[in-house]
Amino acid sequence: TRTPVNVTVTGAAGQIGYALLFRIASGQLLGADVPVKLRLLEIPQGLKAAEGTAMELDDCAFPLLRGVDISDDPNVAFDGANVALLVGARPRTKGMERGDLLEANGGIFKPQGKAINDHAADDIKVLVVGNPANTNALIAQAAAPDVPGDRFTAMTRLDHNRALSQLAQKTGVPVGEIKKLTIWGNHSATQYPDVFHAEVAGKNAAEVVNDEQWLADTFIPTVAKRGAAIIEARGASSAASAANAAIDHVHTWVNGTDAGDWTSAGVVSDGSYGVPEGLISSFPVTAKDGQFEIVQGLDVNEFSRTRIDASVKELEEEREAVRGLGLI
Ligand code: NAI
Repeated sequence: TRTPVNVTVTGAAGQIGYALLFRIASGQLLGADVPVKLRLLEIPQGLKAAEGTAMELDDCAFPLLRGVDISDDPNVAFDGANVALLVGARPRTKGMERGDLLEANGGIFKPQGKAINDHAADDIKVLVVGNPANTNALIAQAAAPDVPGDRFTAMTRLDHNRALSQLAQKTGVPVGEIKKLTIWGNHSATQYPDVFHAEVAGKNAAEVVNDEQWLADTFIPTVAKRGAAIIEARGASSAASAANAAIDHVHTWVNGTDAGDWTSAGVVSDGSYGVPEGLISSFPVTAKDGQFEIVQGLDVNEFSRTRIDASVKELEEEREAVRGLGLI
């Protein structure tokens, strides 16, 4: 029998946590034959609700679930972690400046990065979901100098999935017929969903759509502002779709991408496509043997260049800001 994989989830009592934990425990994160142990990290105020969720996890009698531990101490929650999903974060509240937001999140992601550095398993893989995800990932990574830098990733898979769905609806094909879509840059309103290399049922997506104005004025803003549209409609931010994307991200990372396709993830830049080295930016990526690789050699046209540059500039500004705060 296989040794269980330790999966640590922070912000476990939040709405994404509630949508995420049952799917992890049922085997959807890693595979239907991989037993898991869950480690839930919450702040003290969240512990009681996390205990309630753990009771419900028990009540599902998931055959793959080999235990649920709850803690408010990162050193305990990340001990032996193989996979860490960093979901809990400090949201932007009214009147909060970006610097305040980054500083508040530094107070969360710096100690968590240190705890990962000191206690996680050697094969630790980290996905940061909590916003600002790319920069929070950078902060955690900087606090974990003994962990290979490429183990820290940020989630843009929700943006990727949103773009897949919008393009499928526009072109009238099932989502599964769309390949090689890319989200570039920051998980923010500046992100750039790129269809120029994408395929719709084997044909070039930009040619199938053949409407640059739709791309510029409808597709890109719809994907980039989808989070706000969900809040407006639902009265709460995306939770089940965010949890679903986190499952997809880690599943792909561990189990690989299909031949002839790629996905999008916030990964450490190697300088490809003019993205400064070390930034955690979204790229087209493949995954194999538990490692993401940035897809190389794509042509970037003028339409894409300006949009990628704008989002990367925002990431650089965030990096400067957290440098200024001594967080990295
Ligand atoms: P939520 O507010 O429902 O839950 C957050 C939970 O984190 C709370 O239970 C809170 O007690 C906990 N928490 C706060 N600080 C913590 C710490 N230091 N350690 C452990 N737990 C801590 O929020 P929700 O809806 O679950 O969203 C979580 C984050 O995910 C937010 O930052 C949100 O902006 C982000 N998000 C990211 C997306 C992406 O595509 N990257 C998509 C959707 C949401």
